[in-house]
This record gives sequence, C-alpha cells and structure tokens, in this order.
Amino acid sequence: MNDYAKEVDERVVANANNLELVEAAHAFTVTSTLPKYSYNYSVLGRPIIQYPQDMVALQELIWEIKPDLIIETGIAHGGSLIMSASMLALLDMCDAIESGITLTPGDSKRKVLGIDIDIRAHNRAAIEAHPMASRIQMIQGSSIAPEIVEQVRQVANGYKRILVCLDSNHTHAHVLAELEAYAPLTSVGSYCVVFDTIVEDMPADIFPDRPWGPGDNPKTAVWEYLKTHSEFEIDKSIQNKLLITVAPDGYLRRMS
Ligand SMILES: C[S@@+](CC[C@H](N)C(=O)[O-])C[C@H]1O[C@@H](n2cnc3c(N)ncnc32)[C@H](O)[C@@H]1O
Repeated sequence: MNDYAKEVDERVVANANNLELVEAAHAFTVTSTLPKYSYNYSVLGRPIIQYPQDMVALQELIWEIKPDLIIETGIAHGGSLIMSASMLALLDMCDAIESGITLTPGDSKRKVLGIDIDIRAHNRAAIEAHPMASRIQMIQGSSIAPEIVEQVRQVANGYKRILVCLDSNHTHAHVLAELEAYAPLTSVGSYCVVFDTIVEDMPADIFPDRPWGPGDNPKTAVWEYLKTHSEFEIDKSIQNKLLITVAPDGYLRRMS
C-alpha cells in the first residue's frame, strides 16, 4: 500500500470515529429521504436512483474487481445498468490499451444482467437505444421466481468474476430470498451489494406506504443471511468512508 492509500485508510477510520461528522451524515441521509434527493441524478443520460456516494463506491469496486458479469436486481429507469455497462466498457478499453489490441464495438464478453418485475416500455426502449446497450441483458420477472433465478444462473455459468447488486423489493423476506439465490454467484474476492439497508436506521413512520420499515428490510435480511453464510463479511471500511450511504452493512465481501 502506498503512502496516499495509507493516509486515506487512516482518515476513513478517524472520520468514522468523529461523532459530529457521523451524526451530520446520518441526519442528512434521513432528512434527504422524503425530498427524494436520490432521484435527482442520471448516468450517461439515464436516471439512476442512488446517492452519489454509493455510485462512487461501486465505481471503486468495479475497478478493483474487474468483473466480467454484473448482476443487478431492480432496473427502474436503467441508470444503474448504464453505469455498470459503461464501467465494463472502460475495463474493455483498458484491457485493449494494455494488450495493444484494437477494440471492436460489440465483441465484449463483459456484460451486465438486469432483472426487474416490471420493465416499463419507455425505459426498455431507452436502454435498448443507448450506446451501452450491447453490454446489457434484461430479464423481466420477479427476481425470486424460480424460473428467473434459473435463467440468471444459466447466464452466470459462463462467467468467472461476478459482482452482484440487489436493489429491488426491500422487504426482509424478498431480500433474504434474493441473497439465497444470487449471493452464491458472487465470485470469491468480489462483492454482493445490498442496497437500502439504511431503512433499518430510519424513523419507523418514514415509509407509510411501503411494506418495508425498521425490523423488516434489507439490513435485517443481511444479518439473517450472514448467520449461516460465513463466506461473506460486511466490509465496514466502505460505509465508514462513505458516511452518507443507503447501504450500511450492505457491502458484503465474499471471502471464501
Ligand atoms: C429502487 S428501484 C431500482 C433502482 C435502480 N437500481 C437504480 O439504481 O436506478 C427498484 C426496482 O425494483 C423493481 N422490483 C420491485 N419488486 C421486484 C421483484 N419482486 N423482482 C424484481 N424487481 C422488482 C421495481 O420494479 C423497481 O424498478
């Protein structure tokens, strides 16, 4: 590790122990939820529903892991698919530069696979018309339906380095079922990222029209999953760095 990276690591630890900073970050996360702050961003023209901090964390993970397949549940407008696909395109470009080969559009093996129960026609059309479309495959259906899980497993069979992102229905039961289905596809050293674990840390009445809330959400699912899956560990260094994140205890690193 170089001196710069060492300084970053030390600062992340110091910041995570800085109560004033941690409380300010949490207050911002809570206060920005109802005004739908996370709905204000886009990636290469497609809306994404994320906090910028988590988008940067994903960028760092993709560079570190260099996945050849990214599996994402929850497509919405397609911004997260486009972001992943664009990062995979950059990895292809870096490979081509390093090996001195000419990059031919469309012949990348790297791919992002998105699953959503309801891919709206206008979103599908925009994603399919996007320059990144050749790296994107979409499957419509519930992410926990056995036939959908089987389709995803079939696709994953052809890949070695796999990153998984879960961002669909945020109830405990649904996310636990997603973890059982998709976390095992995560390659060793890679991550299964579970979004919206932050719901556990929110005021109980903040999502009155949603089936999830404190006690029933992605974080409770992660905790239950980890009781029987020691091959995964929560990478706290990521949430300690971000401070503002919708995925506290949601960055799961596959250790073995
Ligand atoms: C929070 S949005 C996804 C946001 C997206 N990942 C992004 O970063 O922009 C949640 C999506 O999950 C989808 N969804 C809800 N229940 C689902 C299920 N059972 N299976 C698959 N997708 C589901 C919804 O249709 C919605 O598009």
